Amino acid sequence: MTSPSPEVLRKLTPVLTKRWLSPDAWRREVYEQLDGYTALRKALAVHPDDLIQLVKDAGLRGRGGAGFATGMKWGFIPQGDGKPHYLVVNADEGEPGTCKDLPLMMADPHSLIEGAIISSYAVRANRAFIYVRGEAVHAARRLRHAVAEAKAAGYLGTDILGSGFDLEIVVHSGAGAYICGEETALLDSLEGYRGQPRLRPPFPATHGLYASPTVVNNVETIATVPYIVLGGAQWFRSMGTEKSPGPKIYSVSGRVNRPGQYECGLGITLRELIELAGGMQPGHQLSFWTPGGSSTPMLTAEHLDAPLDFEGMMGAGTMLGTTAVQVFSDQDCPVYATYRWMEFYHHESCGKCTPCREGNYWMKQVLRRILSGKGTHEDLDTLLDACDNILGRAFCALGDGATSPVTSSIKYFKQVYLDYIEGRREPWFAPSDEPELVGANS
Ligand SMILES: Cc1cc2nc3c(=O)[nH]c(=O)nc-3n(C[C@H](O)[C@H](O)[C@H](O)COP(=O)(O)O)c2cc1C
Ligand code: SF4
Repeated sequence: MTSPSPEVLRKLTPVLTKRWLSPDAWRREVYEQLDGYTALRKALAVHPDDLIQLVKDAGLRGRGGAGFATGMKWGFIPQGDGKPHYLVVNADEGEPGTCKDLPLMMADPHSLIEGAIISSYAVRANRAFIYVRGEAVHAARRLRHAVAEAKAAGYLGTDILGSGFDLEIVVHSGAGAYICGEETALLDSLEGYRGQPRLRPPFPATHGLYASPTVVNNVETIATVPYIVLGGAQWFRSMGTEKSPGPKIYSVSGRVNRPGQYECGLGITLRELIELAGGMQPGHQLSFWTPGGSSTPMLTAEHLDAPLDFEGMMGAGTMLGTTAVQVFSDQDCPVYATYRWMEFYHHESCGKCTPCREGNYWMKQVLRRILSGKGTHEDLDTLLDACDNILGRAFCALGDGATSPVTSSIKYFKQVYLDYIEGRREPWFAPSDEPELVGANS
């Protein structure tokens, strides 16, 4: 294992993660000893519009994948409309490889609660929901405990800290579906319906939860807000890049010596992240990687120095996504990885629209045929044709994201596909394991 150089170590910016190693940081008293709830007192003393302006000035962009400007999103909430407003925190964290929101909720749940109170005050919401992935029972339990602790201390409930502002937070567990991370499917699920995306417009800002103005933000986005309130916009902009400011939690997994969460300014490179993560595992050479989960097109060793920010990743032909950096080596097969991801997308497709429901099933089947040594050259065209018919034609971004591993693996690793098709690679599956290519979802 290699030790990171002092120069690369200086790239770490522990802001959201700064309490993670403090014993019992999840308890309210410990959180308070470590500056907790000081941002709330400061925020409640200023006008809500000034908080929205502060978040706009800081340039905070959503940490859930799309990077939408948070202050602008808050500014879309109509004020004085007489309707209830809601804040919904998206804690579904389902994107393959992503592991930042769960550790944050486990290690430092009060930072999310404090962020949710300040954000609700800014958009004039008196009820907030934290929608937690169904499988993450431990995180939901920890959050419920933190909400009870916050309420007992007067940070929640009526007339919070004598400000006249009222807020209740409900921690809601989903049933465990990737699509329920998509914000409109999440809202349907929260309302008690089957989680499927809604047609937009209207957008949640005007017709969200119970057809009322709603802000949906990611856990990391909301947990960042107290630090901006305390540090100010200029301090926040001192990290990251001009268009992608601030710190970001990168979850690094795969063939590195020390997988985990590394918080750095946006714009760090994969080369630096691998160094922070103790280097590649012995005997492994970097082959391919995802910058932000499987829905972001994979990159290769050519892109080791591309900045991991919204613009840098777009320039490299991919997306920053959730900053779930999955590192694969020369001992991992890009075609097999793509097949496993397609199993996931096929399983998680909600079935509402034909391109995604049928397309993902067929792509999975064709990939399996290739991996069984029975593929044909035409299969590559079939895969690309299926992607063409899904991308931009599916009802929501799950369908678009599902095409990323297929198109990018064919772009960079066509030779590996040809090796399976032309018999130069050992098949993954015996032909007898190969399922018949029959009707979709049968
Ligand atoms: C299939 C799918 C799954 C998603 N899963 C999540 C998720 O688990 N967490 C999340 O914050 N955003 C997820 N998103 C993005 C949300 O729709 C939404 O953009 C995000 O919650 C907005 O928060 P932000 O502006 O703070 O990033 C998902 C989107 C899609 C299409
Ligand atoms: S793209 Fe997929 S997940 Fe999205 S609505 Fe269509 S079937 Fe459902």
